[in-house]
Amino acid sequence: MEKTLSIVKPDGVEKRLVGEVIKRFEDNGLKVIGLKMVAMSKREAEGFYAVHRGKSFFESLTTFMSSGPAVVMVLEGDNAIERVRDLMGATDPQEAAKGTLRRQFGSNIERNVVHGSDGPDTAGFEIGYFFHALEIAR
Ligand code: CDP
Ligand code: MG
Repeated sequence: MEKTLSIVKPDGVEKRLVGEVIKRFEDNGLKVIGLKMVAMSKREAEGFYAVHRGKSFFESLTTFMSSGPAVVMVLEGDNAIERVRDLMGATDPQEAAKGTLRRQFGSNIERNVVHGSDGPDTAGFEIGYFFHALEIAR
């Protein structure tokens, strides 16, 4: 069974979408096996998004991600990485398919409500960034 990391970003928490996002995942066969709220510092947000360091949106993105609490979760299921990406939709809510979380709830390309790992390597890094082994159900 594949694992992936998802985040309800600070805009999603502010919009009271935590339950809605988790329900979408659960209704689509994904299982929550790790879950907590975090308040990332700017440094911690920069570490999480280190792959984007140097890009035009890095400064604004990491300020946004450290602007308030976020809910981080580990999801498990067949093809979990791709399925979460499909349920989220494209990065830009305006380009995301109808019915996806980002299309439905995203404000703009930065404030797009939800994060999902984009591959097995990043999923491994991202799960380890937030969770100790003991915090993941087995
Ligand atoms: O989150 P996703 O994998 O779809 O996109 P990304 O290219 O890995 O970018 C990470 C995050 O940076 C996005 O989810 C947006 O919040 C933000 N971003 C942005 O603010 N402006 C862009 N042009 C691209 C991404
Ligand atoms: Mg990404």
